[in-house]
Amino acid sequence: MAKLEIKKYPGRVLRKKAKEVEKFDEEIKKISAEMAETLKENGGAGLAAPQVGVSKRIIAVLVDENKIEIFINPKITKKSREKKTAEEGCLSFPGIFLKIKRPSKVVIQAIDLERRMLEVEVEGILSRVFQHEIDHLNGILFIDRAGFWQRWKARKKIAGRA
Ligand code: CO
Repeated sequence: MAKLEIKKYPGRVLRKKAKEVEKFDEEIKKISAEMAETLKENGGAGLAAPQVGVSKRIIAVLVDENKIEIFINPKITKKSREKKTAEEGCLSFPGIFLKIKRPSKVVIQAIDLERRMLEVEVEGILSRVFQHEIDHLNGILFIDRAGFWQRWKARKKIAGRA
């Protein structure tokens, strides 16, 4: 199976709002399988379709130590008032880790590849991963959610690499 190329910041596709999946066809199955494979090979916790150049609302999430699941048209239906700060990375920003504050618990609604509607409540790292990946579908990147100094540090690091 083809491993996909991961688009790095500031790739333009990363800023586009991704489109809802309407037809659950072979193409969606194929891209989903390739995303799962790409996530596995890169050792990340999550991957959103725009990160592989596909502007569709599909995310792959490492839900368990060795289990990657696909969520289609995912959305957050509930957020806890309580927030937590923790370090995040992103496959589109190699080597950059930022402390990001996010709601500690969220409820996610999505559709799986068998077209079943599902709803899950997640907390801890998984809650963070879902929020980070769903942000990608809306063209929002983790640097947008970082504090001023965190962002400044990241920009300097990215600029220094060029
Ligand atoms: Co990311």
